[in-house]
Amino acid sequence: MDLSTRVAGLELGNPLMPASGPLTGDDGKMLAVAGFGVGAMVTKTVSVLAAEVPRPCIWGGKDYLLNAELWSEFPLGEWADRILPGLRRSLGIPLVVSAGYSASDLETILPRLEPFADAFEISTHYVGNDVAAMAKTMERARAATKKPILFKMSPHIPSPEEFALAVRESGLDGIVVANSLGPALGVDGSRILLGNAAGQSWMSGPAIKPIALALVARVRKAVPDLALIGVGGIRTADDVVEFLLAGADAVQLLSSALLYGKDIYRRILDALPAAVERAGFSSVAEVVASRLAPFAVSKEIRLPLVDGGTCTGCGICEAVCPWFAVALSDRKPSDPPGPSGRVKRLARMEGSACFGCGLCESRCPAGAISGIFSQGKKG
Ligand SMILES: Cc1cc2nc3c(=O)[nH]c(=O)nc-3n(C[C@H](O)[C@H](O)[C@H](O)COP(=O)(O)O)c2cc1C
Repeated sequence: MDLSTRVAGLELGNPLMPASGPLTGDDGKMLAVAGFGVGAMVTKTVSVLAAEVPRPCIWGGKDYLLNAELWSEFPLGEWADRILPGLRRSLGIPLVVSAGYSASDLETILPRLEPFADAFEISTHYVGNDVAAMAKTMERARAATKKPILFKMSPHIPSPEEFALAVRESGLDGIVVANSLGPALGVDGSRILLGNAAGQSWMSGPAIKPIALALVARVRKAVPDLALIGVGGIRTADDVVEFLLAGADAVQLLSSALLYGKDIYRRILDALPAAVERAGFSSVAEVVASRLAPFAVSKEIRLPLVDGGTCTGCGICEAVCPWFAVALSDRKPSDPPGPSGRVKRLARMEGSACFGCGLCESRCPAGAISGIFSQGKKG
C-alpha cells in the first residue's frame, strides 16, 4: 500500500515520525529511531544554550507520561559541529530540526543549522500565551531562513485558531499540534515526583489523545491550506488514521514509545496498511484528503443489546452503569450458551431504567454489548 504523504513540501515515505524529545537527542539515537522505518526525523529542541535538566525528569503512569525535560542538554555549537553534519550524510529521510525559543535565539539558530535541516519546527512551549508576541517571533523566524517553518502549538494556548492564523499571516508553512499538556503535578504519597522549581511537570501519552485530536480538528478548520502535523497520545495504527482524518497531513509520536517500547514505530507502520483499509481507504493520501464524518447531536434513546453468546458474565457493565440499569443473573434454558458454554451468568438490560448513555458498550471487555455506538453491528 502507498503510505506516502507530503508535509510543507517534504515528501515522506510514510506519515509517522518521532516527536521532539529524548529519543532524538543526538545522532546515534536518531539513527536508531530511523531504523524503525519512520517517514521523517525530528530532533530534540535545540536552543542557543544547553538546558540544565532536572533529574528525575520522566515518570511513566498507566496510560500517560509526566516529564520535566527542557530543551537539549547540548548547546547549539555541539549540534552544528558534531551532531548534525554526520547525521545529514547517513539519515536518508527528511530531517526536521526543532528549535526554540525567542526571536533572537531563532535568528542565531536557524541560519547556523539551515545546511542540515529540510524544515524547522519551532517550539513555543516556554514563551507564554501571547499570540501577538509570538507573531513577531514568527516574522523574524521567517526572515532568518528560506527553509519550511512549522510552529508547534502548546495545548494551553487560549485560541488555537488565532495561533493558526498568525502562522499563516507570517508566511510560515505549517503547524505542529500539540505539545504536552499542563502544568501537571505528579505525586506519590506526600512526595512530588518530578518537576520544575514549582514542582510542575507536563503530561503526554494516550490519555491526552482526545484533546490533541480536538486541537488538530480546530486548527485544520481555521487554516485548511497549511501543513499540519498531529501529535499527542498516538499508540496504534488506528490512532494514526484518526489524526489524519481529523486534519493532519502526518503525525508524530513519543510517549507511547517510552511507555510501550521504542519498536512501537515499526509495529505501527506494519499495522498501518490494515488500519487504512479498515477505515475504507486504499492509501494514506486518500485518508489525508478525507475528513471525519460529520457529527449530528441526537437526543433519541437507543438501548444496548447484549450478545448472550459473547457475554462472559464478568459484571463490569453492572458495576459501572450510572443508571443501575444492568443486572447479572443466571442463564435460563432459553438464553444462548455463553462463550464455550461454560459461562453461567448473563448481563440483562433493564430497558425502562436505561438512559442510553453508552458507557456499558464502551467498557465491555468482551465486545458483547452493541446498539448505541455500534448501531446494527450485532442483533
Ligand atoms: C520526555 C519528553 C520530552 C519532550 N521534549 C520536547 C522538546 O524538547 N521539544 C518539544 O517541542 N516537545 C517536547 N516534548 C513533547 C513531545 O514532542 C510531544 O509533543 C508530546 O509528548 C505529545 O506527544 P506524545 O503523547 O506522543 O508524547 C517532550 C515530551 C516528553 C514526554
